[in-house]
Amino acid sequence: MDVDVVDPLALRVAARNERKSVSRLSHLVRASLGLVWASGRSLLIALVALQLVSAAALAGQVFAVQLVLDAILVSATSQAVGGVVGPVIALALLTAVSAITTSLSGQLQRLLGETVARTMWERVLAVATGVGLRHFESAEFYNRLNRVQTSALTRPYAVTQGLLALVGSLAASVGLAVALFSISPILLPLVLVGGIPVLLTSRRESRLEFDFTVRQTPAMRLRGYFIHLQTGRDEAKEVRAFGLSGWLHERFDAIYGTYLGDLRGHVRRRAALSLTGQLGSALVLGATLLVLVWLIAQGSLDIAGAGAAIVAVRMLAGQVQQVFGGVQAIFESGLFLDDLGEFLALGGAEREQDSGRDAPEGFDLLRVEGVGFRYPGSDVEALKGVDVELRSGEVVALVGENGSGKTTLAKLLAGLYTPDRGRILWDDADAAGFRPSSLRERITVVFQDFVRYALSGTENIGIGRVDEPVDAARVRAAARAAGAERALDALPDGFDTPLSRMFAGGRDLSGGQWQRVALARSFYRDAPMVILDEPSASLDPRAEHELFSTLRSALHGRTALFISHRFSTVRGADRIYVLHEGEVVEQGSHDELMARDGRYAELYRLQSAAYVSGEPGEAGGEGSAPS
Ligand SMILES: Nc1ncnc2c1ncn2[C@@H]1O[C@H](COP(=O)(O)OP(=O)(O)OP(=O)(O)O)[C@@H](O)[C@H]1O
Ligand SMILES: [Mg+2]
Repeated sequence: MDVDVVDPLALRVAARNERKSVSRLSHLVRASLGLVWASGRSLLIALVALQLVSAAALAGQVFAVQLVLDAILVSATSQAVGGVVGPVIALALLTAVSAITTSLSGQLQRLLGETVARTMWERVLAVATGVGLRHFESAEFYNRLNRVQTSALTRPYAVTQGLLALVGSLAASVGLAVALFSISPILLPLVLVGGIPVLLTSRRESRLEFDFTVRQTPAMRLRGYFIHLQTGRDEAKEVRAFGLSGWLHERFDAIYGTYLGDLRGHVRRRAALSLTGQLGSALVLGATLLVLVWLIAQGSLDIAGAGAAIVAVRMLAGQVQQVFGGVQAIFESGLFLDDLGEFLALGGAEREQDSGRDAPEGFDLLRVEGVGFRYPGSDVEALKGVDVELRSGEVVALVGENGSGKTTLAKLLAGLYTPDRGRILWDDADAAGFRPSSLRERITVVFQDFVRYALSGTENIGIGRVDEPVDAARVRAAARAAGAERALDALPDGFDTPLSRMFAGGRDLSGGQWQRVALARSFYRDAPMVILDEPSASLDPRAEHELFSTLRSALHGRTALFISHRFSTVRGADRIYVLHEGEVVEQGSHDELMARDGRYAELYRLQSAAYVSGEPGEAGGEGSAPS
């Protein structure tokens, strides 16, 4: 096997599956059937019934053909055609029944397919939203997530479809076998042998298919990403401003070209295999028909019997192939289902981790003690033994250059990651022992890159606490505290206007207005601890001044940690921590830090000099841009 594959885990699964076929088949069938049964049992029952009816109609057609031929032969000698009418009508009716059941089951299968897809989506999305944030740092997780979305999701249903085909063709095969056996017993085993070559090659085909998909996943994701870049709303303006479209087309084309090349090779290999199987089966079928001719020459079959036997052999060979085709479909899905199973198991394992005792309602003193943290896959520590203290009701600021670890500390405090070393103590309780979701209950964060939900203003704020029904008065109060009320009221539908042009009646907000909405969301959450990661980055100087002069009253006694590059706002904090390359290098009030004349004082003077360039004396403050 040509293995140049990025997903060793999935391949190990593939290798394991080459063994223990029969028990595996029954396991796959049971698991998939269970799922389909749970999603839409009445549809499944109806479909099985239709398959049985269709099988009976097929076997009936063989007998009808024999009757028709008999009647024609009789009429040829007796000149009376009346006897042909009955069998012909029967044949026509049986054919009609076959056609009707086929089209009906097509529609029902469509319904059942969607029902199953819904169940699967629910499970997959539960995992995607439930696993720890660290999974989103791993390419392997995205590969699997992508594979699950593009192929594994439809597989449980594919198994069921394979199974339905199997039931139908097995029933039809039994009926046809009985019919054929009653005409000529010798022919039956020959037809059955004809299915074996296809069975042998189809197993190998399944493995080829799975390996190909695994190998192609990274390239498919890259392709998807380039599609997103060319169709995304946020990307559209930059793609145009930088004139990226030609370059994007080229990259996309190149990725697609490579994929198509690989696909051609894959299709060639699959076609060669399938051709071998089909040829083998065709040879056996040819031999069977030769035996039939020999039987006629021998005089052991009359003309009507021979005609019916030809029909039966043709039909039965087709059905036997379908039986094996169904088996193949199930096996082929099997490898994808393992993939899916492991993805879903991730959800189970992670959910169990949501254990521990509930975080307390609040704290008198929150201490970060010697906390060190390294991002998964990174070889430098983003935090190298950080000590920070927050007393209840304090407003504490965190400053530092880009990449100094401010956002990382915010994520650790919010319980999105756990420290590699050191502790975060809520009074005397280690936050590592808290149930993660209960810790997050107590904390609200506005991230630097907060999400702009394309929902109404009310929903954007109300989802700050989704477990309770939205309280319009509180939404308004939160919006007022964050300075978003006026902007939202000015929209055509006020707070109910969708905040995106993507949807009918929607309006866009400016960057600063969005920031206030995000801020309002965090106020609405009503948690004892508020973390604001650059809450004023997009605010104009007046808005920023307003925000910070009212922050304490908006906080209602809650503790706040805010991260900012604007020293004018940092000034008012009870205490300021200066982070540098993952370490706290200075701490104290603004006046203490200025008196110390260290890094903070240097950064502060740099910034105020920019504002009051050329003007000696009073530095800093909420002035506007330099003149
Ligand atoms: N998801 C991540 N995976 C790996 N490394 C990361 C990740 N996020 C941040 N880092 C690294 O961790 C370090 C600290 O990043 P962090 O985002 O905490 O900085 P910051 O102080 O918030 O910077 P800024 O002022 O630019 O927001 C940086 O070196 C950064 O490259
Ligand atoms: Mg940051």
